[in-house]
Amino acid sequence: MRWYNGHFVLLAILNYVIKITMRVCSIIGYKGESLAAPLLVTCLQKMEYRGYDSVGIATIADGKVSVKKGVGRVEDVNSSLLLGRLPGRIGIGHTRWATHGKVTEKNAHPHTSCNGEIAVVHNGIIQNYSELKSGLLMKGHIFKSETDSEVIAHLLEEDYVHTGDLRVAMRNTSKKLAGAFSFIAAFSDGTIAGARYDEPLILGISNDGYYISSDVVGFLNYTDRAIFLDNRDIVILQGSEMEMINFDGAPVLRPTTQVAWEFGGIDKGTYAHFTIKEINEQVETITKSGRGQEKSIKQVSEVLKSAPFVYFTGSGTSYHCALVAKNLLTKYGKRKSDAIMSSEFQYLVNDIEPDSVIVAISQSGETADVLEVVKKAKPLGTKIISIVNVPTSSLARLSDVSVHMNCGAEIGVAATKSFTSQLTLLYAIIDEMSGGLIGLEEQRYKLQNAVRELIEGQSMIEHIVDEIKDVKDIYVLGRSIHYPIALEGALKIKELSYVHAEGIPAGELKHGPLALIDRNSCILVLNPNDSTFEDVNANAHEIKARGASLIGVGNSPSDVYDQFITIPEVDEILYPLLEVIPFQLIAYYLALVKNANPDYPRNLAKSVTVK
Ligand code: G6P
Repeated sequence: MRWYNGHFVLLAILNYVIKITMRVCSIIGYKGESLAAPLLVTCLQKMEYRGYDSVGIATIADGKVSVKKGVGRVEDVNSSLLLGRLPGRIGIGHTRWATHGKVTEKNAHPHTSCNGEIAVVHNGIIQNYSELKSGLLMKGHIFKSETDSEVIAHLLEEDYVHTGDLRVAMRNTSKKLAGAFSFIAAFSDGTIAGARYDEPLILGISNDGYYISSDVVGFLNYTDRAIFLDNRDIVILQGSEMEMINFDGAPVLRPTTQVAWEFGGIDKGTYAHFTIKEINEQVETITKSGRGQEKSIKQVSEVLKSAPFVYFTGSGTSYHCALVAKNLLTKYGKRKSDAIMSSEFQYLVNDIEPDSVIVAISQSGETADVLEVVKKAKPLGTKIISIVNVPTSSLARLSDVSVHMNCGAEIGVAATKSFTSQLTLLYAIIDEMSGGLIGLEEQRYKLQNAVRELIEGQSMIEHIVDEIKDVKDIYVLGRSIHYPIALEGALKIKELSYVHAEGIPAGELKHGPLALIDRNSCILVLNPNDSTFEDVNANAHEIKARGASLIGVGNSPSDVYDQFITIPEVDEILYPLLEVIPFQLIAYYLALVKNANPDYPRNLAKSVTVK
């Protein structure tokens, strides 16, 4: 495939930038007619939401590889090192999220080969890197970082020097790596090549060149035409040609997909942060969720109806959604089910009945723990249903049926609107199964007004935040279907504000947690008017007797509470969709009071693509 004329192939090598031992990184490569460095800086900024701690870029110009990298945000490192001024129309870039190996300039990607002619950026984990590194050290290679990723640059160099053939070097190197990886190598002759195994890698095709990225968002500003590489695929951009082969050297043909969707419009607009923008968007996204998906909702409901056992699984927020779904399925779908977090389920999944159905929930569709469950279950014949926000994601592609959340890109690391969208979809599916017992459709309008009312009540939340801003521990209590919301509420608070918060089933209070409660504790209690009301109210009194400050969330304010957040009236089964919103707002404003950036909580990443 030709993409531009006039450039001849400079010989030489590559300069590879590798990623280190990180769990979630973004990688990007560009080869085309425009200056690469400023484009790469913008692409990396688009992927900032994935979370990172350092950044780097390598470009190729006149047969020379130049690298600049540093610790901190793209904007700051760019201002101090002028990343965007690196010369050339070919380059690679990286944001690193460290798990092993400190956050240092040396550990930041790109990593280079000994001769400086290959630079590599990498996302994933090379499990056998110490073994590979020992072999390379014995051959005289000198390592500059503590990362696993650097081995890729040296392996490529080793093979390239010996064979003079970069295709062979890419294939041999990829085959030697154990673990999950996607990497892009830039060679000083002007070639860029990428390879993937169990980590996403996508080729973007624009009018003036090619992009290679771990995330379509990386290049969506420039093109919506993309080719999703499969496992064991290698893409090589050499001279003006694009070529795809597999690890064995056989040619590979993959379809071009148009990926233009809401990602194109990623922008904070007039909001201070993506998180508050996304919280506000729930007025629309909850209403939209499931619309236009009627066929897949019906299909999923049929699958669930005939399933002897259903497992809901997910990580973090998506797991909390799984817990609500299990409750709804028992009550309205009359099916046996369980909800198991994916990081635990992967050790059990080999032992489940093969005719069970797994419903995997994941905003990104790329969470490694969730994918691990699905990959282990599929060969057993287990049917996989997924609920995702990225229809082109690995999870969607591995599923028998996938339903799209359709809530637009979620940039804030902590999930907000994706939670209520996935939850609404599950309500819709179980409603369909039960022949409309939940009555979601009839209540959409009421629900939308209720969400609006809660969001408009932000000043009340700011007042509560002011009262609780100095507390060290927050406990969130709920029973039955509200317990998962207690977990989600506590998760939001700890993620965004770094205050210790725990979700507790209110009935378990006297079996342990009550020992922690004293005058310094702050307790938020989910106490709506349903079958849990009396029991939770009794728990609130037990807490009050210990002098703790109490904030109630529900529909019947009572004297036991120091403050009360009123949830607008809707059918009680829909409360979870509403109750979570005050917690999202409390977490957001608490983060602001504590000077934390709510969009990018420390140590967390949006898409945890490695186990
Ligand atoms: C990360 C994010 C969480 C999210 C979880 C699952 O841990 O920080 O906000 O809930 O991943 O993500 P998923 O994309 O699978 O829903």
